[in-house]
Amino acid sequence: MNVAIDGPAGAGKSTVARKVAEQLGYIYIDTGAMYRAVTLAANRSGVNPDEPDRLGTLISGLDIRLEPGVNGQTVLLNGEDVTDEIRTREVTLRVSQVASHEVVRAKLVDLQRKLASAKGIVMDGRDIGTHVLPDAELKVFLTASVKTRALRRFQELKGDQQVPLMQLEQEIAERDRSDEQRVHAPLVRAKDAVVVDSTEMTIDQVVEVIIDLSRTKT
Ligand code: C5P
Repeated sequence: MNVAIDGPAGAGKSTVARKVAEQLGYIYIDTGAMYRAVTLAANRSGVNPDEPDRLGTLISGLDIRLEPGVNGQTVLLNGEDVTDEIRTREVTLRVSQVASHEVVRAKLVDLQRKLASAKGIVMDGRDIGTHVLPDAELKVFLTASVKTRALRRFQELKGDQQVPLMQLEQEIAERDRSDEQRVHAPLVRAKDAVVVDSTEMTIDQVVEVIIDLSRTKT
């Protein structure tokens, strides 16, 4: 079967999805990493996130691959390992705007559907249950309060990437707004998704809930 895990920034989706995939013996696909790779390429080429035509030209020359890596997944952009670089602030602050354009989404959704066609996939993102894999056997909408999500990000950031907690909170709220309000495949809970609020839960507890849910589907 396929498992779709959607939710807002910082809800713990990637860590949870990776662990769920490990336990089920499935392949994990981080779709946010794909939007981040496009954003990195745009930043490097001086393409503005509000220029869909130039983004369209740029994306047609990109080869984005996700491969199993030491910490879950290695992201390759035209053969270059950009796993760490796609997590920088420069990328995070622009990714939502880049992801709002249909020309970007169409290409990545196509790639995501191909990767999921053989089943046995855990895919996380914003529109997986609603748009990319509407027939996924298990759909989870993973959320947590903005405060908790900002605090988790704060604890992850190191060295020169440090940002005050209040600012992170504002940026996360802004990214939520932008992802929820965009025209194309906005962040919204699929009607048949199970909501898991991780505010008061550990990662392992969330993983256990999802594994239990998966047992009811097989
Ligand atoms: O999951 P992550 O926070 O890395 O995703 C980065 C951004 O990519 C999101 O804020 C969203 O704008 C975009 N995204 C998306 N659709 C997805 C996955 C991510 O629009 N399926």
